This record gives sequence, C-alpha cells and structure tokens, in this order.
Amino acid sequence: MKHVISINDFRKEEIFDQILVGCESWVEHAKDRKISNCPEKKATFAFFEPSTRTRGSYMEAARLLGWSSDVIIGEEATALSKKESMANAGRMLAIQGADVLVMRTKIEGAQRFIAEILEEENFETSVQNGGDGTNQHPTQTFLDLLTIRRFQGRLDDLKIGFMGDLKYGRTVHSLLCALAHRENISITLVSPPETALPKQYKNLFPGEITESESLEPLCDCDIIYLTRIQEERFTLDPMALQRISEKYRIDKKILKTLKQGVMIMHPMPYVTEITPDIRREKQIIIDKQAWCGIPTRMYTLNEGYKNRKEISLPQINQESKIDTILELSLEEYFKRKSATQTVNRYFMPITNGTVIDHIPQGLGLKIRGFLLGSGGSIKGVKHTIEDVPSKKHQVKDVLVLENSFLPNELMAIISSFAPMVTFNIVGNENFQKVKIKAPSIITGIGKCPIKNCITNNDPEANTKFTHSNSNLKCHYCEKEFDREEVI
Ligand code: NCD
Repeated sequence: MKHVISINDFRKEEIFDQILVGCESWVEHAKDRKISNCPEKKATFAFFEPSTRTRGSYMEAARLLGWSSDVIIGEEATALSKKESMANAGRMLAIQGADVLVMRTKIEGAQRFIAEILEEENFETSVQNGGDGTNQHPTQTFLDLLTIRRFQGRLDDLKIGFMGDLKYGRTVHSLLCALAHRENISITLVSPPETALPKQYKNLFPGEITESESLEPLCDCDIIYLTRIQEERFTLDPMALQRISEKYRIDKKILKTLKQGVMIMHPMPYVTEITPDIRREKQIIIDKQAWCGIPTRMYTLNEGYKNRKEISLPQINQESKIDTILELSLEEYFKRKSATQTVNRYFMPITNGTVIDHIPQGLGLKIRGFLLGSGGSIKGVKHTIEDVPSKKHQVKDVLVLENSFLPNELMAIISSFAPMVTFNIVGNENFQKVKIKAPSIITGIGKCPIKNCITNNDPEANTKFTHSNSNLKCHYCEKEFDREEVI
C-alpha cells in the first residue's frame, strides 16, 4: 500500500488481512507511547477543512514514529487563497520533501488527482486522504474496523445501524464500501429524507437493508454508527435542522430500548446526536474509537513511507475494440435495404459518410451537439432523425453525417455514452457496419455534475468516467450518474 485514497482501491484481502492486521500491530506501540527517532522522514498534513481527530491523531502518530512533520491548516494559510491550483499546491508540498502527504479537502477527488500527478512526475510521495468532501474517509474506516474488531470481536454476522447524515457523511460511505466485503452484515438506515443514503451505496447490500425515518429498527442492532448532520455541505432551513436534531439522537430513554451489549460509535464531532446524560455510559465507545486513530495512522504513515517509490495507481486500459458486424458492396447493401421501409420512409440513404444508428431515444441531439462542439467539430451535413421505429428498441434516434467519417476515438466515446449504437460507414462503393467496445475509462468528455469535484475546480484535471453497471462513475468524486447527466 502506497496511497490511501479510497476504500474502493483495495481488495478484500488487502483491507482485512493486511491493513487491519497492520493497524492492530501498532496498538502496543501506541499504548507504550515510546518515541522512535526518524527525523529524516517527513509527513505533511494539509487540512483545508476543520479537523480535530484526524489531524491530531496523524500528528500524534508522526510524533510517536519520531518523524518531522509540517502542518498546514486552512486554505487561507496557503497560496490556494491566491487562486493557486490544487495541482500546484500538491507539487509544492512534494518538492518541499513530503514523504507522506495527508490532505483533507472540500474538493472531492483532489487527493486522487494529486497522487496521479505526483506519480506521473516521479515524486516519491504517498498521498493519504483525510476526507474529501462527501466522498471518502478511508483511514477513518480502518480505525472504525479496528474498533469493531477489538471491541465487538468480529466483523461478520453483524446488524449495523447507521443514523443521521447518510447522504453527505463520508465516513458512512467509506465504511459501507468496506463492510460490503463481509459476510452476513445487515444494514439499517435511519435518517430524515433530506439526508438519506444515495442509491449507489445501497446497491452494495442487495436485499439486506432496512430503511426507516424512525429510530425503532435500531433496537436489535449490534452496532449503531451515529453521524452529524453535515450542515456545511448543503442548505437546510433552521426549522428542519432543529426537527432533525431533536429526533435523530440517542438519549437515556432510547438507550434503554437498545440491544444488550450494543456498541454506539460516532466518528465525531457530535453535536446533539448523543445527549450529555449518556456520555459516560459503557455503550458509548467513541473515545476508544477515536484513540484507534493513532495506531491506524502509525500504520498508514509507515506503510506509505515504505512504499513511496512504488508506481501504484492502476494503469487503466484506454484501448477500444472495433467489431465489424457486416461488410458489403454498396450495391448489395442498397438491394437489401430497398425492401425495408425504414430507410425510404425516414431518410434518404447516403453514398458517402456515416450513419450512427440505434441511438437511445432522446440522445441523438445531444450526440449531435457533442460532435459539433468541443467533441470533434465534425464537418459535413448532419441530420438527426428522432423517434424512428426500431425492432430492437421500439424507438431510436439516428444521426446521419453525410461526407463525414469519425476517428475511432470519437466513435469509442459515443459508444461509451450509448453502448448499443452501431456505425454504418459508407464510402468507396462499400458499406460497413461496425460496433465499438468502449474503453474502460472515458477521458476528457462530458462534465461531472458535482460542483465540488476536482474536475470542476482545477484547470489541469480532465474528466474521467468509468463504467459502473449501466451508469458512469466519476473516477475522482466516485459518484455514479446516468449517461445523459454527464454528456
Ligand atoms: C468526520 C469527518 O470529518 O468526516 N470526522 C472525522 O474525521 N473523525 C465526521 C464529521 O465531520 O462529521
């Protein structure tokens, strides 16, 4: 392990057999508080959002390891406040000797983007994500798992309730990504509709989720993971906030209804989620949980340092594959086609150019716009024919590019957004029908709808989308979208 960017970057065995075992192995050292002496190793902690536990435990971990460290708190302390880009800020911290660079940002995907830049430019720096907006908080997940394993004794066969802000709370998102690897975990989600868990995380647990706006389903949970309403990330009127604060909290009365031996966790800070009268009850294990941050981060600092010279980011396959489905002389093609009604009724066949067929209904104009705009500035006459009856899809759009031929990369991009399209290429008295298997990552096209995604905040950051089921997933902020939302 070199970088720690997202739980989704690790396989099950890495998380549970290597990382978690590794974190556990630092527990005694963290308890002893013996200080090692390695001032030549340097950690830089750049926290552009407030933090007490993550920053503090990373610093304590660095102190116990005997490292030198540098702490930057708030964008205002840096040239980011003079509109310097994240990319240049990251480069500078690496130039100034960060062996491990820990960053907390409001911008989502900033850490992945900086890790990629530093690796491409041969810096030997491990980048660790101390929380990126609403996306991920992987070291919090490691310490949460360490807490569960230490105090609950197991990581399988658990009923876990999550309560509070499940929409914007990154600690919940990261932890769910890890728990999805375990056996027999049933998840109970308790939140107001305003902060309900996004579908992409629910999909990690098919058939094992209970969702509720009231607290009752928490009563048979082994673990309850509370979270704070992330007021800073969305607008909520004060009345709604008060209603939520009064309802979504654990007090003495509720504690009595919970399962014997329940463990109440919270990444902290908490505001109203735990009432003062139960703060010292044995079920509230939040102080022990927060302490687990120290051995956890001793491990990630040490491991990041050990592997800082590795090339670790996945090399993504950008190749696309062309399949020729049909090849005929134009004469033969026309002979076959003249019998079918569609061509005659909806458009005149062309003798030179490209017809993009089987476009899902409604996407034709968007693809046309893309071809005319930044995507390709394709010359030639373009007709979009909408709502054409289709055997395969009932109704489809068709795009006719007379005297225009698309480079393979452009056909691959179109196929990424509309995987079912075929390209009819007509020219030199020849007809060819091809289909393109899109590359696994689509670069530089479309726009990520998330305002705080790094791709909307750094001029060097290109959009990158990967395929996730039938959706596209932003490689940086890790949110999933319908194809239409992105193009
Ligand atoms: C959380 C965070 O910053 O995501 N805290 C933490 O790191 N321990 C939770 C929060 O801010 O509510």
